[in-house]
Amino acid sequence: MSASTLLHFPAGFQWGAATSAYQIEGAHDEDGRSPSIWDTFARQPGRVLEGHTGDVACDSYHRIEEDVALLKQMGAKVYRFSVAWPRVVPSGRGAVNAKGLDYYSRLVDALLAADIQPMVTLYHWDLPQCLQDEGGWEVRETAHAFVAYAEAVFKALGDRVRQWITLNEPWCSANLSNQIGEHAPGQRNHQATLAVAHHLLLAHGLTVRRFRELKLPGEIGMAPNVDWREPYSQSQADIDACRRGLEWFNNWYLDPIYFGHYPEEMLERYAELGARPPVQDGDMAIIASPTDFLGINYYTGSYTLAPDVPPQLKRSGDAKAELAALLGASTVDVPGFELTDIGWAIYPEGFYRVLLWLRDRYGNPPVYITENGACYNNGPDGDGRVRDNKRIAYCQRHLIAMHRAIRSGCNVRGYTLWSLLDNFEWAWGYTMRFGLVHVDFATLERRPKDSFHWFASVIRRNAVEPGEAGRLAF
Ligand code: FCB
Repeated sequence: MSASTLLHFPAGFQWGAATSAYQIEGAHDEDGRSPSIWDTFARQPGRVLEGHTGDVACDSYHRIEEDVALLKQMGAKVYRFSVAWPRVVPSGRGAVNAKGLDYYSRLVDALLAADIQPMVTLYHWDLPQCLQDEGGWEVRETAHAFVAYAEAVFKALGDRVRQWITLNEPWCSANLSNQIGEHAPGQRNHQATLAVAHHLLLAHGLTVRRFRELKLPGEIGMAPNVDWREPYSQSQADIDACRRGLEWFNNWYLDPIYFGHYPEEMLERYAELGARPPVQDGDMAIIASPTDFLGINYYTGSYTLAPDVPPQLKRSGDAKAELAALLGASTVDVPGFELTDIGWAIYPEGFYRVLLWLRDRYGNPPVYITENGACYNNGPDGDGRVRDNKRIAYCQRHLIAMHRAIRSGCNVRGYTLWSLLDNFEWAWGYTMRFGLVHVDFATLERRPKDSFHWFASVIRRNAVEPGEAGRLAF
């Protein structure tokens, strides 16, 4: 293919890869780190597949040089990683643990020496267990404890880090964890969900304000996960159900930070179940404190199909049934679409659409795609090579969707692929692999997959080759 047919990205586009602390670091009890809610959860029988824990993970705590060398080899301009609160403030609030901070400081130095910008997430789900014991995110004090922790990180790394993310995927920390029960702490309770969501948002807003007060250079934003939902048909019932699903998943976190209020219809429906966010005077203005960018994690989408007889929205005490009634819908995978190995539908068109939707609804903020990537579990072939063509095809299609969005005027500035390494995939343990680099969890050996080399060529050319995805078989 001639170079002229490449789809180019804007000059200076920020390519890189992403990880998070609990998923890669290991060293769970070293240098003063205290347990997080994920250490506790992973030890509860039946919570994580095969009883896996993050005790060792990829051992990245001891492998700064090796991991940074991989990023360098890839040509990454940026590395998105998260800081573990239980390493930095092991008692949740109060004393700062210099040893814990030192690890991140060394990581930042190694990245900068390799000419890679650090992008730091302050919260990627690893709440100190001692704070959970006091009510966790359900209680307002946790938001204040978070700001103090964030300030310690700002003061230690703020001279070198220019991009900050307050929260990763608050929908997961609130809804997946407290309404659906699949993530730590693992409960099903609507009121708890709304309290957790509100205090997370409050923590975000307070942290943005503190960042401004400290007059640190650089930018700050949040990284919610968005998905895209299409009405299954143009029947009014499907359209209404789809709107509710988006309000529940996307707008619940985005409307407060851009508009300073929760989505009206979902708020009313939650109230029917007796659940309300614990908003105090002034909270919404804090939450809506202006940010510099929006981080977006996108993996999948679905069609929304309203049932013939919508479930009645009433309190029954059965949280699962109540949630179905709240949404008044079921989602169905887009017919004919392939699933990745984790069972998520491959829906690049949804990526394009959600970027346009963000552009139009929220005033076209600067966007970084903070996560996108695919789960495929194949390992090395006999010759030692990991031929993960399916991952390449998935990413290729999503990069084309992103390119279409940019050409449509969306203000997308960067893309950090999930993930640099195969790692601890939460409730799936080590059974689900998202890495560009294969990790042998027995030896911890790292091995770049074919997708790693493909992504390196995307970065080098700052472009995708449109025909390539079509040639790679699913
Ligand atoms: C996202 C998480 C990330 C990773 C990917 C696959 O929801 O932010 O930690 O698990 O999914």
